Amino acid sequence: MKVIALDGPAGSGKSTIAGMLAEKIGFLHADSGAIYRTLTLASMQKLGAGNSPQDFGELFQKAVLDPDQLGIQVVLADGKQSNRIGQADVGREIRTPEVTSRIRFIADNVPCRNTVNRLLREFAEQTGVVADGRDMGTVVFPDTPNKFFLEASVEVRARRRYEEMLGQGSSSQSLAEIERDIARRDQEDRSRAVGALRKADDAILIDTSDLSRDGVLSRILAHIQYRF
Ligand code: C5P
Repeated sequence: MKVIALDGPAGSGKSTIAGMLAEKIGFLHADSGAIYRTLTLASMQKLGAGNSPQDFGELFQKAVLDPDQLGIQVVLADGKQSNRIGQADVGREIRTPEVTSRIRFIADNVPCRNTVNRLLREFAEQTGVVADGRDMGTVVFPDTPNKFFLEASVEVRARRRYEEMLGQGSSSQSLAEIERDIARRDQEDRSRAVGALRKADDAILIDTSDLSRDGVLSRILAHIQYRF
């Protein structure tokens, strides 16, 4: 298997960097967060979204769903990962704040984590992958020698996300709201009993706060060049 594991907290830039890196070296960008999002949306469609995330969490915990029966498919389409419910690509629908605020129940659920991990490993058997997430280096691909952990302060990450949203037209959240959301997700992601956000001991740490995207990319390339 040829795998590059790229982990880090929300907004650390790993998804963008994973996409750039995958394109550069001809690998598939495997986005694990997108699979958690797709499972969350499929659960919301099945059970209802509830009036609040907490409400949804109670519905989800009572229902004891089998993640393999939710009709999600993660397939390769035109060399990219397509996240589907039934036949429909839900790549846009999975990025709403409504979905994001409900993911934690799915991400804390061990059967859901096992499903995501299996789908990622199946990808890696078919092609070289740049896998981005929270536990790629620690749990899903512990044997790969290519592990990176991206960091940046909460303030920097919130500003990036805010500017990204403005760049797409407008932001539905203020900078302060985004910062609060990111801090809350950090706390949830780091304290999860299984698959918590953690740097693998053998991962290379890159602080992206003062680096451009190209700067981060060239650091990663410098480390992996001699291996491929
Ligand atoms: O990367 P992204 O922000 O799309 O991930 C959404 C959420 O999915 C994260 O906040 C985290 O709770 C969960 N996740 C996870 N393990 C991964 C990737 C994402 O628990 N490997």
